[in-house]
Amino acid sequence: MAYEARAVVAREKGAPVSVETITVPDPGPGEVVVRIRACGVCHTDLHYREGAITDDFPFLLGHEAAGTVEAVGDGVTNVGPGDYVVLAWRAPCGRCRSCRRGRPWYCFDSANAAQPMTLAGGVPLAAALGIGAFAERTLVAADQAVKVDPAARPEAAGLIGCGVMAGFGAAVHTGEVGLGDSVAVIGCGGVGNAAIAGAALVGARRIIAVDLDPRKLEVALHFGATDTVNAAQADPVDAIRELTAGYGADVVIDAVGLPQTFRQAFYARDLAGTLVQVGVPDPSTTIELPLIDLFGRGGALKSSWYGDCLPSRDFPILIDLYLQGRFDLDRFVSETLPLEAVEDAFAKMQRGEVLRSVVVL
Ligand SMILES: NC(=O)c1ccc[n+]([C@@H]2O[C@H](COP(=O)([O-])OP(=O)(O)OC[C@H]3O[C@@H](n4cnc5c(N)ncnc54)[C@H](O)[C@@H]3O)[C@@H](O)[C@H]2O)c1
Ligand SMILES: [Zn+2]
Ligand SMILES: [Zn+2]
Repeated sequence: MAYEARAVVAREKGAPVSVETITVPDPGPGEVVVRIRACGVCHTDLHYREGAITDDFPFLLGHEAAGTVEAVGDGVTNVGPGDYVVLAWRAPCGRCRSCRRGRPWYCFDSANAAQPMTLAGGVPLAAALGIGAFAERTLVAADQAVKVDPAARPEAAGLIGCGVMAGFGAAVHTGEVGLGDSVAVIGCGGVGNAAIAGAALVGARRIIAVDLDPRKLEVALHFGATDTVNAAQADPVDAIRELTAGYGADVVIDAVGLPQTFRQAFYARDLAGTLVQVGVPDPSTTIELPLIDLFGRGGALKSSWYGDCLPSRDFPILIDLYLQGRFDLDRFVSETLPLEAVEDAFAKMQRGEVLRSVVVL
């Protein structure tokens, strides 16, 4: 018996999203149905709506979610009905060439549900990042459901399912920030501030927050930024160099994804420094850099998908740090709202009014 659920759907490129009734199939082998309790609004949902990820409309949006497992298909052993889970958009297969090389965080064949969820009339939905959680229920591969401590409230816990994990991991895993490092983070939305929090937790000595919006810089100080730079008023490259004895930062994280922020991150690094690109660029954009600067400055340019995380390892760690009061997940939750308000939440995100709007169900 399939389930019906109210859900947020993007029907066509650039058009406002709508709340529709969808059909969620019974879980097949290796699949689970999750009753969603909260789902954060991430900039990537807006990228989907804008057609900037793929053209596979209609999309079922939402992918930063916590919920309770409702039903499991044959062969599922990692979770059972009633388990409290955070959903992950990476579930390493263990068999692809990357997993076999011992790099499961790059898994090239990450698991998703095999069956599609559908609109009335059987139109298949493409679930955002293989999740689709602006919905009362969703269907995912069992390994996408990661059990965490149920003491963590869903509004906060769900956020580690995407933006917070991506930012935190961009600093800690991809950038390998460690004790004493200098770090600059360009773009202090949910992702950038999570990078700041991660850098602070592992002992970075100087953490420079860069944004165009003074409200974001104010919040960054709470997450552990030691200095702030308003990029609308000062050149961020000059400012970062000034704050690092003229050298530049050991690690610069671009949490925006524009050609100009990438360029700033490139030149704001110290020699042999690391650039981490975690902001998702629009597919139409390009960048040109003098090859001699690429060669001569050394170091590493790394992109970070999902903060190079392993959800089954990292989600419970972040939740425990949260419950111990060492990682302020609650501060990412700017507001809670119903499914009907996702379009409003996009507008607030674009106006810079929120770190995360969280849909509660
Ligand atoms: N790589 C991944 O795995 C991953 C995961 C989640 C999100 N993302 C991406 O990360 C990016 C940030 O996501 P978010 O949810 O934090 O978005 P957001 O809109 O909440 O934050 C973006 C921030 O960047 C600031 N900004 C914009 N232009 C700027 C500029 N030129 N200089 C400095 N600051 C600038 C904005 O003021 C805002 O505070 C998005 O591109 C999103 O798609 C990537
Ligand atoms: Zn794999
Ligand atoms: Zn996201």
